[in-house]
Amino acid sequence: MTQIASTHYPPGPTYRDRLRNPGLLRLSTHEFLERNAMTFGDLVHYKAFGRHVFQFNHPDMVQEVLVRDAAMQHRGIVMQRAKFVLGEGLLTSEEPVHMRQRRLVQPGFHRQRIAAYGETMLQFADEMTARWHSGESFDIHRSMLELTLRITGKCLFDSDVESEVKTISDSVTAFMGFLPLAFLPYPHLLLKIPFGFIGRIQKSQKKLDSLIYTMIADRRSSGIDHGDLLSMLLASQDAEGATGGMTAQQVRDECLTLLLAGHETTANGLSFIFFLMAQHADVQEKVFAEASSVFGMGHADSRPTAADIYEHLPYCQRVVSEALRLYPPVWVTARTAAVAYAYRGLEIPAGSLLLVPQIAIHRDPRWYPEPMHFNPDRFLPQAIAARPRHAFFPFGAGARICIGENFAWMEAVLVLATVIRNWRLGFNGPVPTELPLSAQISLRPRDPVVISATKR
Ligand code: HEM
Repeated sequence: MTQIASTHYPPGPTYRDRLRNPGLLRLSTHEFLERNAMTFGDLVHYKAFGRHVFQFNHPDMVQEVLVRDAAMQHRGIVMQRAKFVLGEGLLTSEEPVHMRQRRLVQPGFHRQRIAAYGETMLQFADEMTARWHSGESFDIHRSMLELTLRITGKCLFDSDVESEVKTISDSVTAFMGFLPLAFLPYPHLLLKIPFGFIGRIQKSQKKLDSLIYTMIADRRSSGIDHGDLLSMLLASQDAEGATGGMTAQQVRDECLTLLLAGHETTANGLSFIFFLMAQHADVQEKVFAEASSVFGMGHADSRPTAADIYEHLPYCQRVVSEALRLYPPVWVTARTAAVAYAYRGLEIPAGSLLLVPQIAIHRDPRWYPEPMHFNPDRFLPQAIAARPRHAFFPFGAGARICIGENFAWMEAVLVLATVIRNWRLGFNGPVPTELPLSAQISLRPRDPVVISATKR
């Protein structure tokens, strides 16, 4: 006998609730999702703009929704609209295009490759701090956006994007502000408006395109295989037809996707990490002790490799984990039900918005007592083993798990150790107790993160 799935939906915030509390009107706020989880439990249901919304707040549901039921879903409205800027890159494409693209891009993220990228990460972090002046205060978020952009540009495209940093950062900011539009009707018409906010997105897109097409053209005309991701993508394009490689447009789309996805999330993550370091002098000193001992390893003629350094920084790795727990740069993973299907005996209608919020699960006191307290020891092996597997999933789960995960770990840990080894971070004035956030497509600090750095 076929089992009929129930349409008796679990509780969630009503329209009236949301109207009474203007703070809850915006669907995109992370506070809204956190509050839903706390108030209504593991599965929350409500309606937004006439659509069913399901919010899944238990770690077991991460696996069920993002892995087990993935075939019944697509990326959803935000990513469909994001195609306007990103084209059909890894982030936005649907199956089967996505799987094929992923196979072509994957070799750029193999273990040995990441190990080699580590040298660039160390070098660029050193170059950045060489420009700092002891005792000065500055916005660490801006510094991190520049640093991670340079690192991504160099590692993946062997390109020095330093002079373009502002263009790219501004474009990302314009693009991030695009989220609220994704839910409005007739977005294809809205996106044609040539002025104001939309005009800015269009301008940014033109600038980014010209940057990327120049990078591609330079590489083609040089004819040299740099052994990086760009050469790999172009080789696949040249073999097009024979191997089902990429079109010129797809190479552009993947480059842009990786440049944007690769630098902004990591920059936000590092800004959170350094804010927490400035806030927690005791943790900072432990990072310093570990980093100084590891960078001093080996002899003058046999400096340890970046990969060796990374392997010997377990405390720094725990600090990065705890920062990504508390402030997950991707704060919610969204899908849309492509068909109606049953979930735990409940009918999920086609077109429903499915939200799996990193921020609510990472801050759930069941897995992390006193969740707002920063404590890297939550990531000691025995503590991890005591929690459900997906109580921590800053890089997502399933077939669409972040392709740059290992890249991001290496980058965050090496940059953290390089900075703290030589600099003491703090605040000019009282230590702030809170970091105001802006939750758009990614979670970023709302305001400049002004910290002071003193040479050790
Ligand atoms: C702390 C840093 C980062 C975080 C927290 C992060 C997080 C994520 C998450 C959660 C997803 C899955 C989204 C979903 O399922 O809808 C994702 C996908 C993706 N990330 Fe990252 N990411 C980071 C760094 C990077 C880096 C360094 C790169 C590239 C150099 C990158 C490239 C991508 C791409 C291309 C995808 C789409 C993968 C696919 O759909 O196949 N990310 N990221």
